[in-house]
Amino acid sequence: ATESTTLIMLFGAAGDLATRKLYPSLFNLYKKGTLQSHFALIGTSRRQLSDDQFHQIILDSIKDQTTDQKQADDFVSHMYFKSHDVTNPAHYQVLKEFAAKLDQKYQLKGNRIFYISMAPRFFGTVAKNLKEQNVLTDNGFNRLIIEKPFGRDYKSAESLNNELSSAFNEDQIFRIDHYLGKEMVQNIIALRFGNPLIESVWNNKYIDNVQVTLAENMGVGVRAGYYDSAGALRDMVQNHIMQVVSLLAMEEPDSFTDVNVRAEKVKALKSLHIYDKDEVAKNFVRGQYGSKGDQPEYRKENGVDDHSNTETYVGGKLEFRSPRWAGVPFYVRSGKLMKNKTTRIDVVFKKPAADIFALGSNGNVSVNSNVLTIQVDPNPGYALKLNNKKIGQGFGISPVTLNFTKSAADQKQIPQPYERLLHDALKGDHTNFASWQEVGTAWKFVDPIRQLWDSNQPDFPNYNPQTNGPEAASKLLSRSGRKWVY
Ligand code: BG6
Repeated sequence: ATESTTLIMLFGAAGDLATRKLYPSLFNLYKKGTLQSHFALIGTSRRQLSDDQFHQIILDSIKDQTTDQKQADDFVSHMYFKSHDVTNPAHYQVLKEFAAKLDQKYQLKGNRIFYISMAPRFFGTVAKNLKEQNVLTDNGFNRLIIEKPFGRDYKSAESLNNELSSAFNEDQIFRIDHYLGKEMVQNIIALRFGNPLIESVWNNKYIDNVQVTLAENMGVGVRAGYYDSAGALRDMVQNHIMQVVSLLAMEEPDSFTDVNVRAEKVKALKSLHIYDKDEVAKNFVRGQYGSKGDQPEYRKENGVDDHSNTETYVGGKLEFRSPRWAGVPFYVRSGKLMKNKTTRIDVVFKKPAADIFALGSNGNVSVNSNVLTIQVDPNPGYALKLNNKKIGQGFGISPVTLNFTKSAADQKQIPQPYERLLHDALKGDHTNFASWQEVGTAWKFVDPIRQLWDSNQPDFPNYNPQTNGPEAASKLLSRSGRKWVY
């Protein structure tokens, strides 16, 4: 790995995301050599911590990753803590001076990455102060990494974006969508544009429908406070599902660069038909889980309002108005407390235009649709369902499935999404980050759904734990004679 030279300033350094994901990822980058002698990190939070206490937090978060204590100690020796109130301009002066010292000490060439891992209401405040208090440098790069959620609707997302833009240019902003860091999500581009066999049939002449499933088998757990005010549409559809769908639907980029890939994703999202009220009612369904055994219903979860109308499930049909996709529905769904944790994409192909078997003299021979499944989580791999002659006298057809699952050894090599995304941000590669155009366009699609749902009372709860969600989600497909593959 080529070594990166940078100072990372992390806001929210004692938080859940930092300890669960960021330190383990940074440590992996350290072990692999991307981060070495020319890196330092300043962690901030409102808490009062000594550097030693901060180091202990980090050491705890990486303890399963090494038996080499010296390596772990070396790693944390690059980390410093400053107690910080994000609304106090004077505190940014402290950061600025300290950053300059570390820049000297580690020879960081003025390169800075600012990572805001805090409640979204602080994103704008931090960005603005970084700029106004001159914490940004003019001799190196300045990059801003921000977490979701990026707004609650188009309007709030736009004003957040305006706030950020007053301090950072679009090409300095890295909006995290951790689904874009998943191996098999990144593989969509390789699968489509590396294989003429696949890309030549990737259109409405051969594909009947596309199904994207992001199912979880856990409830809201300890995140009820956030989740109850967000809901599945904002939590999973506006970001993760729209990102996956744009990779599936986009046209071939002129070249594999972040600029070209993101431009095609935006075009794809812009070709999505935006629903009016009646169309939302027809094409989108929501659900909320009931109880089962010890599992309380959603409304009885800790931190959830007793009368909450927040959806824990969304299913819907998307229509792209483009020559490639006219007439091909993209069905999407995501829910909490479903049967299994599985993230998968099922591409259902059309049956042969002329079914010679049905016309033939053997009778009773029917062909199935070919289905290409991209398994994202768990057990990353592909499955391709084909029609195959039955063994024996006479002639019959039955399906076979070609399966490819990455070996256990290969799976161990797959970097975690955060490790990969941090690596890309260190290198300045935007391919797997959401551009403002993508985020904004996705909100424009989602807003009318949210508006309709907020304007009327749902009949909740309407699905049982450990199922595939509400009945109505099957009807989305069955009314046109289709069904969910999974
Ligand atoms: C997050 C959502 O973005 O993605 C969570 O906020 C969800 O509600 C999580 O559980 C799912 O991620 P993954 O990688 O486990 O599929």
